[in-house]
Amino acid sequence: MSIKAFLFDLDGVIVDTAIYHYQAWRRLANELGFDISGEFNEGLKGVSRMESLDLILAHGGLTLPDEKKIELAEQKNGWYLELVSRMTSDDILPGVATFFSQVRKAGLQTALGSVSKNAPLILERIGMTNAFDAIIDGTKISKGKPDPEVFLKGAAELEVSPAECVVFEDAVAGVEAGKRGGMFVVGLGLPEMLTKADLVVPSLDNLTVDEVLEKAN
Ligand code: BG6
Ligand code: MG
Repeated sequence: MSIKAFLFDLDGVIVDTAIYHYQAWRRLANELGFDISGEFNEGLKGVSRMESLDLILAHGGLTLPDEKKIELAEQKNGWYLELVSRMTSDDILPGVATFFSQVRKAGLQTALGSVSKNAPLILERIGMTNAFDAIIDGTKISKGKPDPEVFLKGAAELEVSPAECVVFEDAVAGVEAGKRGGMFVVGLGLPEMLTKADLVVPSLDNLTVDEVLEKAN
């Protein structure tokens, strides 16, 4: 079976919104009277908004009623939207544009696989909505990463099998989602962190489509 499609995570792969999620969650934690470290934040990457809030509240030793949790999640999202509303195509990560033109030349299909409900807005801000043949975001799934649902839906929409897909991910939960979905996974980040990935490189700037196809096929 040969590779037919590349499935991309958004936050931390296409754009560095991971830092904005962290800033907004950290502001919320600080207002609640505690702090979250960069290391703790690694475990939030790829995790849905409400699940992230649950992890943060547990970290701060807080138990809150559901109505309060919804209010806090909305507050965080408001701060996050303030940060991302200033984004432009200048915020696309290094190497992404070149990599996508290679993807097109190679005749591969593309899908976005993000658990973020804000993904369509961000794609619009950075002018990349049309770069994807399918867009699966947080509004189309019921389970966040590490569940493979987001990537399996992407493959299904492109009408390819999981074994014909390569996933690009910066998050531990996202790498696990791709592997559980039966896909070849390229981790973008540190090998000591993304231990389950089939291949790890620092970013898309350090990779060519040919290299990926050679390893995945
Ligand atoms: C993921 C991020 O892409 O989306 C997580 O890595 C975030 O940090 C999740 O919590 C949900 O995002 P949103 O935009 O729906 O709150
Ligand atoms: Mg990510």
